[in-house]
Amino acid sequence: MQQIVLAQYCEGAPKPSDFRLETQPLPEPKDGQFRVAHVWCSVDPGTRSRLSGGDSYAAALPLGKPIDGFSVGVIDASNHPDWPVGTKVFCAGGWKTHSLQSGKGFIGKVADVPGVPLSAWIGVLGVPGLTAWFGIKDVARFKAGDAVLVTSAAGPVGATAGQLAKAWGASKVVGVAGSDEKCRWLTETAGFDAAINYKTAADLTAAIAAEFPKGVDILFDNVGNAMVNRMLP
Ligand SMILES: NC(=O)c1ccc[n+]([C@@H]2O[C@H](COP(=O)([O-])OP(=O)(O)OC[C@H]3O[C@@H](n4cnc5c(N)ncnc54)[C@H](OP(=O)(O)O)[C@@H]3O)[C@@H](O)[C@H]2O)c1
Repeated sequence: MQQIVLAQYCEGAPKPSDFRLETQPLPEPKDGQFRVAHVWCSVDPGTRSRLSGGDSYAAALPLGKPIDGFSVGVIDASNHPDWPVGTKVFCAGGWKTHSLQSGKGFIGKVADVPGVPLSAWIGVLGVPGLTAWFGIKDVARFKAGDAVLVTSAAGPVGATAGQLAKAWGASKVVGVAGSDEKCRWLTETAGFDAAINYKTAADLTAAIAAEFPKGVDILFDNVGNAMVNRMLP
């Protein structure tokens, strides 16, 4: 099997030399274990803070160990009666081609839904989708008629939050994203009412004010401080 390990802590943008590709013997499941052959692994922004050495909201990743991430795949060997070979699962598998699992912790069986690709289980149907769902529903306490502004709106969390708000009766949903292509996707495919390219907008605050003359009820922010400061009047 192959895995990507952290070779050195990142400074600034991650570069190829921060990582190392290793080949290891394929692990065999013991009693109560099964092996997942990963089809997809996620590369999430949340992982970045763990690549720099210091602890953040989660502990730093140890050097020489595989990078954590969510995976979706198919069980290809099993010593567990509830998890037979051929079962499709999502799990915390890491940046590896295979992982051993016991059925405990973050793992579940993938429901075969026509038209839904396997990758959706680490995207809109996975943790990013759940983050959007609980963020817009429970944290922001969305109610029909709310005007909603979303940053990093073309990412999996932002795009899902905006689409949920539209589906639940938002009066208006506007996304902020970093390219014209992403903005086009937001309005033409994801159903946002409008999108603003924060890299080319001459005055982001004014562009937002023009979209929301009566103000915003919910700011669903995915980016943080500097971006929020550019948006507040
Ligand atoms: N994914 C999860 O499971 C999960 C769970 C909990 C919390 N979260 C948090 O939710 C947020 C969104 O997660 P996501 O997975 O959907 O990732 P995401 O929004 O796709 O994040 C990456 C995008 O952020 C934008 N970005 C990066 N730096 C920026 C900057 N300085 N100013 C403005 N935009 C910037 C870029 O998009 P542009 O091209 O548009 O600039 C980039 O493509 C993150 O803060 C993440 O940590 C994620």
